[in-house]
Amino acid sequence: MRVLVSGGAGYIGSHTVVALIASGHEVVIVDNFSNAKPTVLARLEALTGASIPLHAFDLRDADKTERLFADEAIDAVIHFAGLKAVGESSERPLDYYDNNLGSTFALVRAMARHGVHRLVFSSSATVYGESATAPFTEDLPTSATNPYGWTKVMQEQILTDIAAATPGLQVALLRYFNPVGAHESGTIGEDPQGIPNNLMPFIAQVAVGRRERLSVFGGDYPTPDGTAVRDYIHVMDLADGHVRALEYLGEHPEVAVRAWNLGTGEGTSVLQVVEAFADASGRPVPYEIVARRPEDLAVTYADATRAETELGWRAERTIEQMCADTWRWQSANPQGYPG
Ligand code: NAD
Ligand code: UFG
Repeated sequence: MRVLVSGGAGYIGSHTVVALIASGHEVVIVDNFSNAKPTVLARLEALTGASIPLHAFDLRDADKTERLFADEAIDAVIHFAGLKAVGESSERPLDYYDNNLGSTFALVRAMARHGVHRLVFSSSATVYGESATAPFTEDLPTSATNPYGWTKVMQEQILTDIAAATPGLQVALLRYFNPVGAHESGTIGEDPQGIPNNLMPFIAQVAVGRRERLSVFGGDYPTPDGTAVRDYIHVMDLADGHVRALEYLGEHPEVAVRAWNLGTGEGTSVLQVVEAFADASGRPVPYEIVARRPEDLAVTYADATRAETELGWRAERTIEQMCADTWRWQSANPQGYPG
């Protein structure tokens, strides 16, 4: 298949590009570089040996999106493009609704016009809201606690409604838990701009000496060591999950919309991640326990049964590999991508 990867220069998108090409698919990327650097492209081409067409524009530009579909023979779309910082979404809600919903509208309109019937959408475990108890199953009701989360809930609903009204359209809603790690080559990885919001890149920057110490948000959760528990999933396992979901839609034309959790099904605490990272890197990771971060849940992890049963996919890589691969990327690229 020739797959359009929106947001393909970003963290998860770039790793999925590698997995798609390794599985024999062709890739076309569209990205506006609002949260990525153009230098990722040369790394991807070196890693895959493929030449990857890149369209650098904002998907909300309906004319450009339309032209892209007219110029490239696209068979399917994986839609990663979006803004993703939870805290920022409460400060700039309009930007989040506009970017995340607007890019999906333009994409789906162009898909319909050009007869492209397969879409894999980046959703999030955040759609389970705050009332669910782990492990989360896909049939739980969805809700959100911040504008970012609402954009995911809304996009899931919008895509479900459009699929119901469009014979032949197929949509996979992939709900990611906590993606971490990097490609084992260490040449591509997560490169957050400014202060990292997420745990793993923050720890990596402490270990490499860019930051003094980690603030652990909350040491009084009802968990074995008092720190919050998450389901960390290696980004290459996640990438493989996308390839499987895409292929599953092809094998199951009767499926219009289906949600799958992509997680390991296992929880790891903040302090367990700190320890695993110190072991993997051989560097100390100084930390201090501070107040809880508002809106954080104590424990989230997936029930990953549906993806295993239906897609035949299971996350294989351990927390040790996630830390080792993050460290390989971070130590080889202490300041992230050049440029
Ligand atoms: P990322 O920011 O690294 O990648 C997103 C890419 O989309 C960036 O390269 C950005 O430049 C591009 N982009 C944003 N808006 C665009 C637009 N309007 N037009 C064209 N390009 C645009 O983020 P990521 O971590 O790779 O996440 C990818 C997707 O997965 C996002 O939709 C995110 O919400 C979702 N997700 C991420 C996580 C996570 O923890 N990383 C968890 C759950 C879900
Ligand atoms: N944490 C710290 N210190 C830090 C950063 C994080 O202690 O500097 C803790 C958090 O409090 C949390 C855990 O590490 O307990 C993981 O935090 P992340 O920010 O890495 O991940 P979250 O689980 O909070 O958020 C992730 C995604 C969101 C998504 C959410 C819910 O990043 O996009 O899961 O699915 F909305």
